Amino acid sequence: MSNLETTFAGIKLKNPIIVGSSGLTNSVEKIKDLSNKGAAAVILKSLFEEQITHEINSAIQHNGDYPGAADYIKEYTKNHSVRNYLNLIKDAKESVEIPVIASINCQNIDEWISFAKEIETAGADALEVNAFYLALDKNRTSKQYEDPYFDLLKNLKANTKIPIIFKLGSNFTNLTGLANRLNADGIDGITLFNRFYEPDIDIEKLTLTTSEIFSHPSETRRIIRWLAILSDKARGLDISASTGVYDAQAAIKYLLAGATTVQLCSSIYKNGTGVIPEIINGIDQWMERKQYMHISDFRGLMSYRQIPDPTGYERAQFIRYFSNLE
Ligand SMILES: Cc1cc2nc3c(=O)[nH]c(=O)nc-3n(C[C@H](O)[C@H](O)[C@H](O)COP(=O)(O)O)c2cc1C
Repeated sequence: MSNLETTFAGIKLKNPIIVGSSGLTNSVEKIKDLSNKGAAAVILKSLFEEQITHEINSAIQHNGDYPGAADYIKEYTKNHSVRNYLNLIKDAKESVEIPVIASINCQNIDEWISFAKEIETAGADALEVNAFYLALDKNRTSKQYEDPYFDLLKNLKANTKIPIIFKLGSNFTNLTGLANRLNADGIDGITLFNRFYEPDIDIEKLTLTTSEIFSHPSETRRIIRWLAILSDKARGLDISASTGVYDAQAAIKYLLAGATTVQLCSSIYKNGTGVIPEIINGIDQWMERKQYMHISDFRGLMSYRQIPDPTGYERAQFIRYFSNLE
């Protein structure tokens, strides 16, 4: 067997396969199974401040008639949700050898910091920050939407010691500039990309519906370009690739483009945890066939900097190649 060791956010991993943040990692039993199947690390389902607020509001609605009850319910509900999450971290750390990465999504900076500190104390190996600011305000500039990411990193870095990873969306005006500055500001890793809930329209009922929750393998192509560019332009930054990995070929492509690790989510939901050993064995067999001993022997070989003609990664228009397609 080849040596599949790699790193994410500076943490040494036995292979590049991480189970992404989702319901797949919301219990110790599931985490143990993922670890037994060979996953090198798990990212816990995000702790959402919005969900806690929702639970608080619904508890107040049902029980908040007594004077002072609302404050009590607020404190109790929040502590209960956070405590459950912290217990999951502690129990998972006691049950598996692999790194356990926590994930949070908050709305205000005090909560980000307070959750992050508690997560660190509970023993998480790193924190993946699931931050996203939807640009809804026509009077704000792109910079005003990007600055909160840098402020958040600065605050998290000042208040915690565990590695900080940002799980980024792809819709930034200048993703290269953003990643490069996060790298300069001391971020430990980034995950490309978060895959958000996307609304769809039911044209009969005239209502909003949910589109497909799970990814499709064809979505990998959008990620490859950015892995190739950012692994060069934000050099030294550990990048984890997320979205659309259903087989070893997709994982190998991400590593060739420059990712240090690859996250699985939809493929496990759809095909079961058996995809983990399948993909790990597939990477191993490909490495043996290509005579690569280590991941570092081929990682990034197809990145923007490494290939002789990187214009393929720059090209956005179909003009020359498909202009005679009619
Ligand atoms: C059911 C489900 C729940 C998810 N929950 C979270 C979450 O809590 N936090 C998060 O950062 N990403 C969450 N994700 C996104 C995944 O971690 C992943 O980034 C995305 O699904 C793309 O990877 P995939 O193509 O392997 O599914 C979720 C995805 C699914 C399908």
